[in-house]
Amino acid sequence: MRTPIIVGNWKLNKTSREAVAFVKSLWSLVADVTDIEIVVAPTFTGLSVVAQALASGNIRLAAQDVFWENSGAFTGEVSPGMLKDVGCDYVIIGHSERRQYFGETDENVNRKVKAAHAHSLKPIICTGESLEEREAGKTGAVVKDQVLNGIAGLSADQIASTVIAYEPVWAIGTGHNATPDQAQEVHALIRLLVSEIYSTDVAAQVRIQYGGSVKPDNTAELIAQPDVDGALVGTASWEAESFAQIVKAVCNVFFIN
Ligand code: 13P
Repeated sequence: MRTPIIVGNWKLNKTSREAVAFVKSLWSLVADVTDIEIVVAPTFTGLSVVAQALASGNIRLAAQDVFWENSGAFTGEVSPGMLKDVGCDYVIIGHSERRQYFGETDENVNRKVKAAHAHSLKPIICTGESLEEREAGKTGAVVKDQVLNGIAGLSADQIASTVIAYEPVWAIGTGHNATPDQAQEVHALIRLLVSEIYSTDVAAQVRIQYGGSVKPDNTAELIAQPDVDGALVGTASWEAESFAQIVKAVCNVFFIN
């Protein structure tokens, strides 16, 4: 069975002080959760203090982006080794906001994914179509390109420890989540793509998260889908109470029902 993974993407929110206060209150709400991976992704400036605040708990740390070189004259960038050094286990790569506002390409996503693995950071590769692409019937083709380009050249071990997130752009920050059927259809496609390149055994190990307007009240129906292995949460992860409710909803589906 794949361990469910719930990631809170804080985007451009929280000072260091706010970040520490948040993780302390989150931890008090989810301290008893052991069978789910709970991950928070602060800004770069929050990583170090959050890592210290999390030191003995069950919450893991992710960065929101990474550069592919490990050092050198690359003003403004942060390397995989630096993220590992401050205590990150995961790094989000290719988020649609980076593709949309900062010119992130599939080619660069792939470089970052390989660099992350080279430093034992697990990448969370984001994919997802725009509303225009969905309405034009291109969802499958768009996601296929993003997945195949993003994972190109990975070994079977590397892909097994890679997380793939399906985040339809039209569902991000809009309050309109994909229906469970829409999510399942794309997640199944992603798993099929991985199985065609590697094997069904390897594909069965890859965790595929859904993201886009995940809230406490829609988590259960999304996570109950057979190929939905977790959630990548934006807005609802910025408040400890609602993020904890999402974690609890996942626990209920996997470990009680
Ligand atoms: P929302 O949960 O605010 O829709 O954001 C999703 C997201 O972009 C997570 O990476």
